Order: sequence, then structure tokens, then C-alpha cells
Amino acid sequence: MRLERPHRIERFGAVRIHELQRVIELDSGEADAGVDRTGSSLRVEPAAIRAVERDLVIVVPCMNETRRVIEGVLSGIPHDCLIIMVSNSARRPVDRYEIEVQTVEQYCQLADRSAVTLHQRDAGLAAAMKAAGATDLIDETGLLRAGKGEAMLVGLAIASLTGRRYLGYIDADNFVPGAVHEYCKAYAAAFHLADSPYAMVRISWHSKPKLRDGRLFFSRRGRTSELTNQFLNQVIGEYCGFGTEVVATGNAGEHAFSLALGRKLRLASGFAVEPFEYLDMFEQFGGVLESSDPDVMERSVSVTQIETRNPHFHDNKGDEHVQDMRMQALNALYHSRVCLPSVRSDILDFLVAQGELAPGVEPPPERIYPPVGTLALDRLHDVVTTEAHSLRQIVPGVPADSAAATLLDRPPAA
Ligand code: GDD
Repeated sequence: MRLERPHRIERFGAVRIHELQRVIELDSGEADAGVDRTGSSLRVEPAAIRAVERDLVIVVPCMNETRRVIEGVLSGIPHDCLIIMVSNSARRPVDRYEIEVQTVEQYCQLADRSAVTLHQRDAGLAAAMKAAGATDLIDETGLLRAGKGEAMLVGLAIASLTGRRYLGYIDADNFVPGAVHEYCKAYAAAFHLADSPYAMVRISWHSKPKLRDGRLFFSRRGRTSELTNQFLNQVIGEYCGFGTEVVATGNAGEHAFSLALGRKLRLASGFAVEPFEYLDMFEQFGGVLESSDPDVMERSVSVTQIETRNPHFHDNKGDEHVQDMRMQALNALYHSRVCLPSVRSDILDFLVAQGELAPGVEPPPERIYPPVGTLALDRLHDVVTTEAHSLRQIVPGVPADSAAATLLDRPPAA
């Protein structure tokens, strides 16, 4: 893969945000050196990408998506990546989770590869998370809260039991397997190029096709992303005294991080999760508030943003859904400890002007969960592998109920 070389890097304390880099070639061929650092591009060889893929977990959050679409998504994930599907699909009247498990099992059998699947509302998973110390994740019914951020947190915790070093997220509703494939390749290329163990990669898709008056129109940005990016850039600009447009991926559902970084991040609930990752990095490593992590402060965090080539073509869940996502992003921004009063006031003005908030009322805060690295992962392992009945560890050639079907290792007690 060949990527544009980024020229500008914006800093927020120890967080280095690279400007958006386009994918120049999906496949840039073989050459002697692993990376071509000359000229205006960065080339990453297939062998280097594959080496990262062997260390990469792809977490697929899934809620009531169609079987055919899920199968297409799986087919786009490079062979050496380990798939973890975290589902919140309906179990009644039809058990859609069981259908998903069958889809993953059949796919793994055909492709001779491994996967883990788990249901977010499994009582055994709730017990495991509770045992690990993540009590905030449990709702009043005693089960794990619904929400995309919550599913991502579960994926991150389970990925931490696999011994792999990187984690990428891919939505289950993507209609284009080639786009999924490109996102995963971009994750791997960026991790290969990263110069810090604390690395994040965020995708900005090139275009989203929509039908308008009987014609396909390729729009450049989503409505939520425009707004979130604008306010995140305003937060950065207010601190450094210069306006910036560096953040192009505030809402990026497709993003990845090294587990060394991911385990330190506090994730937010629902759709506040992606913008809050930026805010949490600013809060923890931005140098504005006290940081408790000298290692990250010294080595810094590298954030790469990649503009991919494939159109992002996915299930359209309607205007209300977009509105919800937008509100959750702005709520998280408003309440962040690094959000300055001027930005807060602009967010309020915007929400009132849009009729989304009554004058004089504050937006509700989103839930923020403690970092996965603070959980007792040994206890999570013990309880999830014995009590979570929806957990399937699919290993090619090994019967599902065999003790040999195991992809999750018990980490040492902290
Ligand atoms: N396990 C689980 N639990 N999965 C969920 C849940 C949940 O509570 N809610 C949604 N998902 C899954 C969906 O099935 C889909 O695969 C993925 O998470 C994204 O959810 P969508 O509801 O389809 O979101 P979207 O496509 O409108 O928005 C996406 O793009 C935004 C940026 O444009 C998401 O990735 C957003 O997070 C992102 O900000």
C-alpha cells in the first residue's frame, strides 16, 4: 500500500495528530526495503502488512444486520486477522445471534480460519465484567448495557486475552467487502509506520454513495462527522491560538489502536465513543491536565488519519439515528474536562438554534468507562470462559465443545 506522506502534524501535548493521508495505491508492489521513505509517499510492502495482520484482532460490533452482509464483511477481513464479533442482536422470537454464529462458523470452516463470537447481553459476560471490576457497564437488569461503545469495550477486553498487539473495529453493516479489506490494510500499514507503541489509526472514507433524484451522488462527509470535526478542531485551536482543520475523523467508526494505547483509554457509551477517544487522549496525555502516565508522555501518541479509496456504502438507519449520534458526540464534547468555556458556549448555541436543547438547559453527560487496563483480566477470563454460554471460540478442524477450541489465554493476575 502506498500512502501520501503527511506534512503537517498538530500537537496537543503528547498527542500527535497527522493530517489526513490519502491512499495512493492499494497495492504498491514488492521492493527490497520494507518502507520507501523517499519522495512524497510512504510505501509499505505486503510482507510488512502481513506481519501486522498476524498481530491484529478485528472486532465487529453487530446488531441485527443481515446474514449476507455480515458474510461479506467477514470475507473482506484479511486471513491472518483474528475476528471477534460482539453481537447485540435479538434472541427472540428468532434467535438472530445463533444465525450469526452459524454464519461465522460456516465462513471459518470454508476459509480455514479462527473467530470468537459473544453476545453482549449474556448473563455470563455480565458476571465476568463484574468480576473484573467493570461494574459501571452493568444496567439495572443485571446485564451489560446496550450500545456500540459498550460492544467496543467488550471487544477490547476480549482482544486483550488473545496475546495480539493491535485491534481494529469494522462495522457489520458494510455492503462492500473491498472497503472492509482496504480499511484493514490501512490499519496494518499505519501500524507498521507508527513510531510510537501508542498508536491510533482512523479512517476517513473517500465518499458515501447516496441516491438523489434517481442518480448516485458520492457525498464527501457525513453530517455528524462535519460537526464533530469542527468542534474538536475548535478545542485544539483554542489551546494553541491558531485555527486548525487537522481532525478529519472525529466520528470514525472504522478505527484501530495498538492495545498498549487501547488498554489505557476510557471509552464512552454508545455513539459518543469515537469522538471521546480524541477527548480522552487530550485529557490524559494533552498536558493540560495532570497525566498519570509518564511513559506515554515521553513516547507520545501517534494518530494517523487515512482517506481510503473505496466508497463507504452501508445500511442507512435514518435521520433520527443520525440526530442521536450527533447529540451523543456533542454531549461528550461539552462535558469534557478539556472543553474550554468558549467552545461549550458555541455547542450550547448550536443545540439551541437547532431546537435540540431548550435555552438554559445543559446537554446530558455520556457514560465514561474506566480503561480496560485497570480491569482484572484474569478474572474476566475465568468467568467469561466458564459462564458466558454465548461465547464461541471457533478454531478450524477442532469441534466447538472441545477443550482444544481455545483462543483466549489467561493473563497473569495483576
Ligand atoms: N454489539 C453491538 N451493540 N453492536 C451495535 C450496537 C450495540 O448496541 N449498536 C450498533 N451496533 C453495530 C451495528 O450493527 C453496526 O455494525 C455498527 O455497530 C455501527 O452501528 P450503526 O447503527 O450502523 O451506525 P452508523 O452506520 O449509522 O454509524 C457508523 O458510522 C459513524 C460515522 O459515520 C458508526 O460506526 C458510528 O459509530 C460512527 O460514528
